[in-house]
Amino acid sequence: MQSAHDEDLKIKGLRRDFPLRNYTTFKIGGPAKYFFEPHSLRDLNIAVSFIKDIRSPVYVLGGGSNLLVSDEGIDGVVLCMKHFEEKHIRRFGNLVRISAGYGLQRLVNQTARWGLSGLEGLAGIPGTLGGAVRMNAGSHIANIGEFVSFVEMMDSSGKIQRVRGSDIMWGYRSAHLDGCVVLYVEMELTRAAPSIVRKKISETYERKRATQPLTRRSAGCFFKNPASHSAGQLLDEAGFKGFVQGGAAISRKHANFIVNRGGASAGDVLALVKMVREKIKQLYNLELESEVAVWPY
Ligand code: FAD
Ligand code: EPU
Repeated sequence: MQSAHDEDLKIKGLRRDFPLRNYTTFKIGGPAKYFFEPHSLRDLNIAVSFIKDIRSPVYVLGGGSNLLVSDEGIDGVVLCMKHFEEKHIRRFGNLVRISAGYGLQRLVNQTARWGLSGLEGLAGIPGTLGGAVRMNAGSHIANIGEFVSFVEMMDSSGKIQRVRGSDIMWGYRSAHLDGCVVLYVEMELTRAAPSIVRKKISETYERKRATQPLTRRSAGCFFKNPASHSAGQLLDEAGFKGFVQGGAAISRKHANFIVNRGGASAGDVLALVKMVREKIKQLYNLELESEVAVWPY
């Protein structure tokens, strides 16, 4: 007699109890009960019919650069969009159409080569375009939502809708997508000499490299900046730089980065987060809100 497990294994691309650690820049996290990594719309449709049948929670994964996965892993389906049509990019004058799986830094560099300006302020931000749109990724210079003219996304029933960028509610490190999966993004950029675009990219990247621990395992800034404060500055003033909890530590370079020194568990990171939050509340009466997505929700 065949078990449900044997049946599952027949579904193209489905993997069970799949370790997520190496799919996050933190290099932390347990396995996903079910894992799909669609490369095409065809693969995605197979995943969607499985998801409809199984009725488990679905977690959409991009480059895993803004993510902390629990040590126990995910009792649900992880839909990894990192390789979804990862090479798809088309230019129509100042408009560019790109797939969600396209790497953000690849996009920054490709648009510079084409002499298209706008994305320079995103230099150095890891991850995929889909993740960047969901997070409205950005810097002091610009956020990605400013350049998005259309997003094509899939809802939980598998229906694809095309939404104007101006109809999306963009926030500070957030975009309201009603739980949809970003598939393609169209962006409108402006023309400029490639050398000027490249210079701006280098300046942004150099500033980032000088102030942030880009070579360490992290998920970027852990907390959102509270209104009119910098979380990094508050944590620095509170004396947290270099503070250690198991394998996790507060970066000495930028206090809003929690780094995995090697072998950190999600539990180590969360213990550090709890400690930091309590202290900042006590010292400044401010609630620090996590920017990093913590799975399971
Ligand atoms: P993931 O981490 O995989 O996912 C993030 C969120 O997006 C999750 O909620 C996920 O469910 C959702 N998601 C992912 N893909 C899709 C999709 N196709 N459709 C729908 N939802 C999706 N961020 C900044 O804004 N500015 C910075 O300067 C910055 N610097 C960083 C520096 C370092 C060293 C690191 C490690 C991170 C930094 N980040 C920064 C955070 C992170 O890189 C960004 O948030 C990035 O845009 C996340 O993209 P991702 O593909 O890795 O998303
Ligand atoms: N500061 C300190 N000590 C620190 C860190 C910062 O005193 O340890 C001070 C700096 O000297 C500066 C101020 O705090 O006066 C602000 O610091 P910074 O310019 O580094 O910016 P930030 O507010 O800490 C934000 C984003 C970053 C983004 C940079 C550059 C948030 C939470 N962080 O950092 O985004 O790269 O601006 O634009 O909004 C991310 O979202 O993951 C991220 C890294």
